[in-house]
Amino acid sequence: MIGKLNHVAIAVPDLNAAVALYRDTLGADVGAPQDEPDHGVTVVFVTLPNTKIEFLYPLGENSPITGFLEKNPAGGIHHICYEVDDIIVARDKLKADGARVLGTGEPKIGAHGKPVLFLHPKDFTGTLVELEQV
Ligand code: CO
Repeated sequence: MIGKLNHVAIAVPDLNAAVALYRDTLGADVGAPQDEPDHGVTVVFVTLPNTKIEFLYPLGENSPITGFLEKNPAGGIHHICYEVDDIIVARDKLKADGARVLGTGEPKIGAHGKPVLFLHPKDFTGTLVELEQV
C-alpha cells in the first residue's frame, strides 16, 4: 500500500544552524524557510536525489514541535512520510486493521499542498507516520 519515502522530518532547535550544516557541511540542496501558520511550524526542505529532509522549527505559541524539542533539546527525527495513491482507501484499511489515525481522521492539506494524515506512533514501531497522497 505505501509507496516511496516522501520525506523524513527532523525537528531542529536552531533552523539557521541546521540549514548551514546541510548546505555547507553536507553539500545538500537546501530550500528557503517557509512559514506554515496552519501547522505551527516553519519548514525548510532539503532535496536529496531520492527523497527529502524536512526541517521543522516551531512557529507561534502552540506549535506541535515545542513539546518535542523540550524532550529532545538537540532536535531529532519527528516523523517519516510515506506516499500513498489514495489516502481515504489507505485510512480505511488502517482503521479496519486497528491503527489509530490522529486528529479528526479526515485528511488535512500538508506542507506540500497535498492531503496528509498522521498515524499514532504506538501503532507503528514508535515512529510517527505521515501518509501523503501524491
Ligand atoms: Co511531514
